[in-house]
Amino acid sequence: MEILINLGYLAAAVLFIFGIKGMTTPKTAVRGNQLSAIGMLVAVVAALLDHNVVRFEFIIIGVLVGGAIGALIAKKVAMTDMPEMVASLNGIGGGASLLVAAANYLESQKLADMGQFTASYDWSLAVILSILIGAVTLTGSFVAVGKLKGKIGDSSKVMLFKAIVKLCFLILIGGAAYFAIVDPLHSDMLVAGLIVVCLILGVSLVMPIGGADMPVVVSLLNSYSGLAGAAAGFVLGNNGLIITGSLVGASGIILTTIMCKAMNRSLTNVLFGGSMAAAAGITKSENDAFYEGKVKFSSADELAMLLDGAQKVVFVPGYGLAVAQAQHATRELASMLEAKGCDVKYAIHPVAGRMPGHMNVLLAEAEVPYDQLVEMDTINPEFSQTDVAIVLGANDVVNPAASKDPASPIFGMPILDVHNAKTVVVVKRGLSPGFAGIPNELFIRDNSLMVSGDAKKVLQETISALKDL
Ligand code: TAP
Repeated sequence: MEILINLGYLAAAVLFIFGIKGMTTPKTAVRGNQLSAIGMLVAVVAALLDHNVVRFEFIIIGVLVGGAIGALIAKKVAMTDMPEMVASLNGIGGGASLLVAAANYLESQKLADMGQFTASYDWSLAVILSILIGAVTLTGSFVAVGKLKGKIGDSSKVMLFKAIVKLCFLILIGGAAYFAIVDPLHSDMLVAGLIVVCLILGVSLVMPIGGADMPVVVSLLNSYSGLAGAAAGFVLGNNGLIITGSLVGASGIILTTIMCKAMNRSLTNVLFGGSMAAAAGITKSENDAFYEGKVKFSSADELAMLLDGAQKVVFVPGYGLAVAQAQHATRELASMLEAKGCDVKYAIHPVAGRMPGHMNVLLAEAEVPYDQLVEMDTINPEFSQTDVAIVLGANDVVNPAASKDPASPIFGMPILDVHNAKTVVVVKRGLSPGFAGIPNELFIRDNSLMVSGDAKKVLQETISALKDL
């Protein structure tokens, strides 16, 4: 039986790894998700066989209630609310690790009193890490949800939160060392106190971070929830949980690094640098002065005429496309152009939008064929042969300052070279900056035109105008 159980954990781990691999491209993402789900089922069955389950009725009730709530939420959640859902699940995962380790701690105390348990260093370390990381993940994730929902605004008390974070770390180092080394089995009050400190730490770590950076924070907290789970696996002696937790911990930190790299920012800058737009410090009047009299405004009718004669068109989606929910209108316009024999592609920047894969997910929702979604490095050389590049609610990811201006906060961030296209048409509501809070020289270039308005509305007008031509 033991061999069978361990083979089950191994099979689950292999399925998770293939599942994660599958999720690296949109084409195989659904299959990757299915493989991971099967892996989780195998892991749950192995865990049930692994431990002496005394009463199955609680487990069955848990599976039914938890499964029903999970299915309902997953069905109902809007694509744009996905980061909130992931953050909530991370928080719940961290909370679960905290409870599992705390329950094991109390149970072990009883066994020790009966002379059936002695605390080893690795057990003590696993218990305290699981409890502490779980507590940080719990509150940190729910602050992230509040920020993503716009219920918690950006805080101006960055220095205060930094001081609280430092104080919490000081208390934790001393407290955790006492617990693990001096007296692990008679430290109830200490453990309760450390949990409170970690709950405060979770809040204080996330509060000073700008709302727009929450996807990076969610990814980091995802990694924390994995580490808490892996530590809980050591507490319970469960190989499946150790493997799963380690995979989540590692993939979360890799994703966090990829996101930071694609924004050309360090993790320290994201965590402790405050809001990026506030750091840029550009006022509205300075922004308006940058563009004054230099932007060539156009219209949906003119855009339709341009597109009518184009052989190659590249759509460049950004955060504004998601705000406008313009993915279906984009697809409709693209299909019309294809029907006219035009070569159509979509240029995907790794951090366009506000979460990893944001643009892929949006465009997949509108059933854009995967082979038309082209990654930045592949599409960049193609812009010089592109007749019209249509920038839909994107700003920072097409800002040439990233490669030209060393003083720019986004200097070094790789961008989509849309400025090399014969004509660039920028569709956005006005001249507001993007996430980085800086003006964009692209909008005043000779080959640029701007069509003001909500992306969906402008696209719908362009579709009507194209039909009338
Ligand atoms: P942004 O630079 O944020 O620009 C979005 C633009 O969309 C704004 O300038 C806005 O201008 C326009 N917009 C808003 N609503 C619109 C609507 N309804 N219709 C048309 N346009 C609309 O977006 P981006 O180019 O996608 O760049 C993403 C930024 O987010 C980068 O700086 C990136 O570093 C950051 N970021 C990304 C991630 C991930 S993982 N994707 C995570 C954290 C941060 P108007 O208000 O004038 O319309």
